[in-house]
Amino acid sequence: MAKPLPMPIRLVAAVLLGTAAIANAHEHHMDKIPEGESVSADPIDSILWIHILVQTIGWGILFPTGMVLGIIRSKWHVPVQTAGCVLAIIGYFLGHKHKGRQFTVNAHAQFVPTIMLILIAQVAMGVYLKLHLEKGIHGKIRKIVVKAHGVVGKMMPIVIWVQFLFGGITAMGFCRGEHVGQCAAHFIMGSAFVAYGILLTIILLVGQLWLRKTGRSQEFFDSLVIAAWGCVNTFTEHRWGTAWVKNDLQHTAMGIIWWCAGLVGIWLSRTRDGRPKRNLIPGIVILLTGWGMSAHPQTLPLSSMVHEVFGYTLMAAGVTRIVEISFVLRDRSSVNADGADPNSFQYLTPFLLYASGFLFMGATEEQMQVLSDAHVTHVSYVLILFSIAFLLFLFTNMLIHLYAVSTWSSNSKSDDENPHVNGMANGHARADRRVRDAEEFELEGLISDDEDARPLVDKEERQAPASRS
Ligand code: HEM
Ligand code: HEM
Repeated sequence: MAKPLPMPIRLVAAVLLGTAAIANAHEHHMDKIPEGESVSADPIDSILWIHILVQTIGWGILFPTGMVLGIIRSKWHVPVQTAGCVLAIIGYFLGHKHKGRQFTVNAHAQFVPTIMLILIAQVAMGVYLKLHLEKGIHGKIRKIVVKAHGVVGKMMPIVIWVQFLFGGITAMGFCRGEHVGQCAAHFIMGSAFVAYGILLTIILLVGQLWLRKTGRSQEFFDSLVIAAWGCVNTFTEHRWGTAWVKNDLQHTAMGIIWWCAGLVGIWLSRTRDGRPKRNLIPGIVILLTGWGMSAHPQTLPLSSMVHEVFGYTLMAAGVTRIVEISFVLRDRSSVNADGADPNSFQYLTPFLLYASGFLFMGATEEQMQVLSDAHVTHVSYVLILFSIAFLLFLFTNMLIHLYAVSTWSSNSKSDDENPHVNGMANGHARADRRVRDAEEFELEGLISDDEDARPLVDKEERQAPASRS
């Protein structure tokens, strides 16, 4: 049976579609931009500041929170995403209406059609799911839409991250011409460190049972990525056939040690009888990378100092990893069976990776030049970057908490997206996950290989408790 859609959702859907249509109907002034520059000398006006604020709240806070609410099938998912859409629409118009500083054609503006299209598709799929069409052919379509809505939804934080970075460099007029290469290097590697930190936080707090099911140790995955990335960097950090310039040789050498060490890490990630085993290789690689970075030659003194702190932070991440595995965990994968409530020391490595990421993203030539000209010391700058790292670390922990308390709690609240009584179910039943997972963990040794695909089947099973009883 189709339920009528609540008014706000209908409105949002209509406005989003309308927005797409008027999208290009504005003029873009560039008359005050000096020859060869990418921004005019004007300050950023208040409309653009509000654009940044509104988009940060809508895309940066509401959508990711709503994503987690979607995963846990909360009744708050739709209201939060609807609110996010309202802000996204306001922010969209503000972006087009700004005066003040002018910008040449830029990645941020060029990425807008893509990101808006993703949002529109996501809302369209969401509206379809909300209609609860479940009879006949809709039963099949619905399954596909749930999957697609889920995949796109979990991808959105990454797309949003990219658009935010584009926004930042556009606002400052950075990363043009000769700067493109090293800009990309800093933002890609920096984002990778942050992403690694976030993944480690997720695995630390809610991924222990998943890790156990894979039959691999954390270091297997870490080493695999390090080895693969090393292969790429071995060949891409130098323009082959030309002279070795600047830090080429150091970057290439770093690529080489990554795949060499990565292979060892993969090899050491199993015991002789094939059980997963921890090892210190990824920790050592992070330590060595940090050491390399701390002594990386730079042109500006400020840049050298920021790189030095970046290097030390990365070294600290490596050292704390080694201490954690050797002395806190003594080679176990976690302090207790389900991984809940880790030792406080275990938060250090992930956090230091966030911090390293932000330090690296904040250390491009142009940024260093601007700060150096403004006589900002490396101390204040590093502290600000650490503050940003703390905020993202907090937000990540909050989202994981939101996920964990609902997935692992034993009381099943009544909830909008939970199974309907009319036979076909939509949501996940909130079976007591923790008990189920604990049982699975105890049975682990008895489960045969072909049941390894279980996590996938699981989800479907949980969706349809009616068919089980
Ligand atoms: C306002 C528009 C939206 C509506 C009406 C909507 C509706 C829904 C509904 C009804 C479900 C439950 C699906 C089911 O029955 O199993 C769901 C799940 C979900 N939604 Fe949305 N949604 C909207 C926007 C978004 C956005 C913008 C995102 C991404 C940031 C998102 C991410 C998700 C995720 C990740 C899930 C869980 C899927 C899974 O676990 O596989 N949704 N949504
Ligand atoms: C995902 C979130 C965001 C979206 C969807 C978005 C969207 C837009 C749109 C539609 C425009 C108008 C582009 C045009 O004139 O063609 C714009 C302009 C702009 N936005 Fe954003 N924005 C987002 C976040 C941000 C953030 C976080 C910043 C800054 C840190 C930012 C900085 C700017 C700047 C500087 C402009 C002016 C560019 C120009 O006039 O060409 N935006 N944005």
